[in-house]
Amino acid sequence: MGFPGPIRKFLERRYDTEVAEGFLDKQIHKRLPPHTGWLHVFGSLAMLLFISQTLTGIMLLIYYRPTPDEAYKSIQFITGSVHFGWLYRQVHAWGASLMILALVFHMIRTFFMGSYKKPRELTWVTGVLLFLVTITFGFTGYLLPWNQIAFWATTVGTESANKVPVIGAWLQYFLRGGDSVTGETLSRFFVVHVIILPWILAGLIGVHLFLMRACNLATMEDVDAEKKIPSEHGIPFFPVHVAKEGVVAVFLVAVLVTLSVVAPWEIGEPANALSTPAHIKPEWYFLPSYQLLKYFEGEYGAVIGIFACGVPFALLVFWPFLDRGKARHPKKRPIAVGLGLIGLLGALFLGYLGHVSETEQTYFGQRYHIDLLGWPNKIVEGEDAPSEAPH
Ligand code: HEM
Repeated sequence: MGFPGPIRKFLERRYDTEVAEGFLDKQIHKRLPPHTGWLHVFGSLAMLLFISQTLTGIMLLIYYRPTPDEAYKSIQFITGSVHFGWLYRQVHAWGASLMILALVFHMIRTFFMGSYKKPRELTWVTGVLLFLVTITFGFTGYLLPWNQIAFWATTVGTESANKVPVIGAWLQYFLRGGDSVTGETLSRFFVVHVIILPWILAGLIGVHLFLMRACNLATMEDVDAEKKIPSEHGIPFFPVHVAKEGVVAVFLVAVLVTLSVVAPWEIGEPANALSTPAHIKPEWYFLPSYQLLKYFEGEYGAVIGIFACGVPFALLVFWPFLDRGKARHPKKRPIAVGLGLIGLLGALFLGYLGHVSETEQTYFGQRYHIDLLGWPNKIVEGEDAPSEAPH
């Protein structure tokens, strides 16, 4: 593998190309552990989605205007009048959710296979930071269309910042750029979304991939017992793993286009600070924290709630330094696997409660009104469902 003839000659006359070629050669012909398979494509999937988000984001930026007067109209213009504008807006909106989903699967894979253990602790830590940056992307991007749901979800979301001990009031003011969500907030979220976060994410991905390559992918052997992969045993990165990534890329394009056509994200009503919609819910990836916060009311309760939401993330960041066991195989790590499953099922359950709270649902043929805390109340024929004040 190397540069094609004329380009090689041009470069050779000017630079020491051997070093660059040697490096590229090593990366392309790297041998991956024998168990490397389809479960190892979620990281690449997240990266493909980051590339797609960057490209569609640039396209959106051409006509988007970040002011309260123009933001909503500019999105309407993009979807209604610009060639393929509807498509790249949908691909961007769906891509955000799919990227977070890809990261969740990537985390599950690396957690249960024990890939975060020595010497890959920092690969994991940079990964958790990447996850946090990605959900912040989601939070800041959600406001940009300046529609009712986004305006009120951001109002409620930034209200939670007020519950942070000591700096809460300041933090809320800082995030909003004032006492309430206004054009100042839109301007801040816009700058964070299109300038600050993309650079942080791109830089962090670079560090993450460098660390991943420096230690190669983890084998299933115990910590300190990993052997170098002999060339006749390993999976060649090129062409075998790269081919899998190619299949994933094609599949991803198909899924993004299908979702954009079949289940488009509606823009809804423009933001109106004077009319509060009845039930405001955040995006699915914030539902577990949103639901958890509801169980902690009052001055001290709210502080405990913020801790209850923050502790799982702190545990995630430091997990490789807390779990010092040598075994990597899930069968040999019942405690870590058990805790991981409890965390995962807990998040799913809270997310589900957040999703169904303040709605009516049918379970086993019986209608229920689900209250704010997720508790089901039987609806008896002829009686009105209990009403809930907007919050
Ligand atoms: C934009 C975000 C991310 C990108 C682009 C990314 C990309 C990748 C890629 C391409 C790999 C190689 C193999 C694989 O896919 O499994 C990898 C490995 C790894 N990633 Fe990520 N990743 C991201 C976020 C995360 C997150 C959120 C975590 C966990 C908290 C994480 C932890 C790891 C670990 C521990 C490895 C080493 C796996 C092994 O040695 O088997 N990454 N990452």
